[in-house]
Amino acid sequence: MLQDIPTQSFHGGSTVVLETKRLTLRQPTLADVKDIAAIVSDKRVSINLRRVPHPYSLDDAVAFVTTFANVGRRSSFLVERDRTPIGMASLDWESGNDAPELGYCFGVDHWGKGFATETARALIDYAFEEFTIDCIHSGARVLNPASRHVLEKCGFQWTGVELHRFLALGSSTPVDRFKLERGVWSSLKSWSNATRRGA
Ligand SMILES: CC(C)(COP(=O)(O)OP(=O)(O)OC[C@H]1O[C@@H](n2cnc3c(N)ncnc32)[C@H](O)[C@@H]1OP(=O)(O)O)[C@@H](O)C(=O)NCCC(=O)NCCS
Repeated sequence: MLQDIPTQSFHGGSTVVLETKRLTLRQPTLADVKDIAAIVSDKRVSINLRRVPHPYSLDDAVAFVTTFANVGRRSSFLVERDRTPIGMASLDWESGNDAPELGYCFGVDHWGKGFATETARALIDYAFEEFTIDCIHSGARVLNPASRHVLEKCGFQWTGVELHRFLALGSSTPVDRFKLERGVWSSLKSWSNATRRGA
């Protein structure tokens, strides 16, 4: 049965473990802070994330795990491949809309292997299958075609451009905004490939 949208505080989501073909998504703990800092401290990652400072220290990772990741209406996941942390992903319900915001980032060594798409699809399925939401929001800097591509591969549709402040940049920058409607998600999920035979 679908759960209501989380209201005041949301601790349940991140205790969920999601398994995909190649990846495990689980709650980050203090044992992960070194790996988190290694991923996020790379400027190629931090300049694309709104609330991440640069430089990004071990203390920032500790603060993330002990407060941000587990407090309020957020569910944050560490993404592992073969028990090695390779990225982070989240559903954030704090924006005030009745729909979560999807976010993700991966260590540079792991880019270009389809991990962000695989992760995003797992979180999208989780959000629509568990909660009474009509849509999921997301965004990508206009200068971030890889993230835009991930969202489009997942069925997100462009809704416009907004200016957002990025901590690591120390300034505001244009962000393409996207939305995935439940109806579009259901259609994509129900479509199966036709079998072809003969010449
Ligand atoms: C954006 C990010 C998550 C993508 O991760 P990833 O695992 O490489 O993504 P995927 O491999 O699933 O898909 C990326 C797609 O973008 C495409 N792509 C990569 N660079 C591109 C570029 N410069 N222009 C157009 N497409 C590009 C890839 O070819 C791939 O598409 P394909 O599967 O059709 O070939 C990763 O680069 C990252 O962590 N960046 C820093 C943080 C960030 O931007 N987070 C998102 C915030 S909105």
